[in-house]
Amino acid sequence: MTLSPWPSRPPAHGSVLLREVAPDDVGMARELSTDPYVPETGSLPFNASVDDALAWISRQQGRHSEGAGFSFTVASVADDQAVGHCGLWLKDVEAGLATAGYAIVPSQRRCGYAADALLALTGFGWTLPGLARILLHIEPWNIASQRTAERAGYVRQEATADHQIFNGETREMLVYVADRLET
Ligand SMILES: CC(C)(COP(=O)(O)OP(=O)(O)OC[C@H]1O[C@@H](n2cnc3c(N)ncnc32)[C@H](O)[C@@H]1OP(=O)(O)O)[C@@H](O)C(=O)NCCC(=O)NCCS
Repeated sequence: MTLSPWPSRPPAHGSVLLREVAPDDVGMARELSTDPYVPETGSLPFNASVDDALAWISRQQGRHSEGAGFSFTVASVADDQAVGHCGLWLKDVEAGLATAGYAIVPSQRRCGYAADALLALTGFGWTLPGLARILLHIEPWNIASQRTAERAGYVRQEATADHQIFNGETREMLVYVADRLET
């Protein structure tokens, strides 16, 4: 599937902007990988080596051309420091649906970066033709992520959903949604 082109200006909100993942982000990727939950959400291995992190970066750089979605580094507007990663995944965009994910390096948490990144990512999503709804699948124990979703205007659905984590295991997760407002 051919996706909409890469945005000409980095999506931004508040303290962050979203830019292409680059080899300079290797330190960010390695720090992210020290959180034991992060490897469950994607292909970054726990305690990634430099080579592991560079391979993950290379995979992220291919996500757009392979039609999977938009994979962004979250960077601080103040100093362009990479503070995390987020993605908008579009395999179901023809049905109007996307999923989103986000992670902030442990040393930069509780600074508002995740909420700002999700707001920037969601605003960018609404620029994509046909996209009507973005879903988040969040573990019931993950209060930080639930608060992030709520902060970014997502609404928790009553029903939960079986969602596959990276190792193929299926878990019951909370579902949060944001819907595109008609203009
Ligand atoms: C979830 C995560 C992205 C939050 O990042 P963050 O930058 O610390 O979040 P923010 O600073 O933007 O905070 C957003 C909201 O969450 C709350 N929050 C953040 N960490 C929290 C924690 N550990 N416990 C309770 N609330 C927390 C903040 O207080 C804020 O809510 P408020 O504005 O209503 O007070 C981060 O903890 C993380 O990367 N976790 C590992 C990966 C992950 O779980 N990703 C989500 C997968 S669904």
